[in-house]
Amino acid sequence: MPTSKRLNVAVVGASGITGSVTLAVLAQRHFPAARVKALASERSAGMTLPYNGGTIEIEALGENAFKGVDVALFAASADVALMFAPIAAESGALVIDFSSAWRMKENVPLVVPEVNPEDIRDNEGIIANPNCCAIPLTVVLEPLRKAAGIERVLVSTYQSASGAGRALVDELEEQTKAIAENRKPEVAAYPYQLAHNVVPGGWRAEPEGFNEEEVKIVNETRKIMHLADLRIMATCVRVPVPVGHGEAVFFETTEKLTPDEVRTLLGSAPGVIVEDDPHAKLYPTPLHVAGKDEVYVGRIRNDPSSERGLALWLVSDNLRKGAALNAVQIAEHALDMGVI
Ligand SMILES: NC(=O)c1ccc[n+]([C@@H]2O[C@H](COP(=O)([O-])OP(=O)(O)OC[C@H]3O[C@@H](n4cnc5c(N)ncnc54)[C@H](OP(=O)(O)O)[C@@H]3O)[C@@H](O)[C@H]2O)c1
Repeated sequence: MPTSKRLNVAVVGASGITGSVTLAVLAQRHFPAARVKALASERSAGMTLPYNGGTIEIEALGENAFKGVDVALFAASADVALMFAPIAAESGALVIDFSSAWRMKENVPLVVPEVNPEDIRDNEGIIANPNCCAIPLTVVLEPLRKAAGIERVLVSTYQSASGAGRALVDELEEQTKAIAENRKPEVAAYPYQLAHNVVPGGWRAEPEGFNEEEVKIVNETRKIMHLADLRIMATCVRVPVPVGHGEAVFFETTEKLTPDEVRTLLGSAPGVIVEDDPHAKLYPTPLHVAGKDEVYVGRIRNDPSSERGLALWLVSDNLRKGAALNAVQIAEHALDMGVI
């Protein structure tokens, strides 16, 4: 980044699955950090984590952890964010929070840099990083909205184990091993065995048969895109994949778009890669999108059941664009805008 400013950065939840990717993304993107502080619970204090070719020691999160910190990336739970984000903001840090704690609060911008970067300016010390499915969904819908308007969205997600944190990734690996060795798989981190299974739940149940994740996708998509009345609904499903969320998206535009027009629009959209040639077996899968920064799109086609309806399939790395990368991009934009 073309800046001479050097920032003191704190990563809260640095030992977690998105926290450790955040450390990697900061180093890979040469984020102008004077110092990076790794914070986690008492359990991890004193342990070390790899960072930028060396190691950093984890410190226990406490009220005094944010003295001199310019930007605090919170990759911990909503409870931790509710308690400590205001403390970090009060001590002068710009907080970028990965959890759902602050996302729908009025004075907290919910930002996807490809969609609503200007909202960063409205922050009062805390910026929320959206849900890992809402981020790629809005990255793909926004260029289509600009070209033709979006009237309705139906999305079904295929979410990987890492979306639920390190514990479920470890459990999926252990269950897969147990099945191969003819042992009974243990189930602890999720309500159902995930290996050899597909689970249409696991999130907190909400009224009307929905779950918490589905409600988040609906509300957050509307907030990020500034489309308060968007007709949208989601079905969220956990699949036995370590990293990478897929989404089957059906949408209706205001003006008619052809699949070729969608391919062209998305082909030049920031942060999107179109891989769409079913005859050549070309479509994105989580296995090859894991570790990549962009949102990958394929299977673009007409929805014959709707006059202005189309369908597509997208995949993004939930730990990178769905969490760490999006947060670091927000910090980069904030720095460019003079907000930090
Ligand atoms: N995973 C994803 O794909 C994804 C995507 C978008 C957003 N998010 C959100 O990102 C946040 C982190 O998720 P994750 O998947 O990375 O979870 P995770 O792997 O379970 O990591 C949780 C982190 O929080 C730390 N922590 C727990 N209790 C703490 C406390 N009392 N004080 C300080 N640190 C504490 C843990 O530290 P210890 O190791 O010391 O316990 C660990 O570093 C969550 O809010 C999640 O909803 C996750």
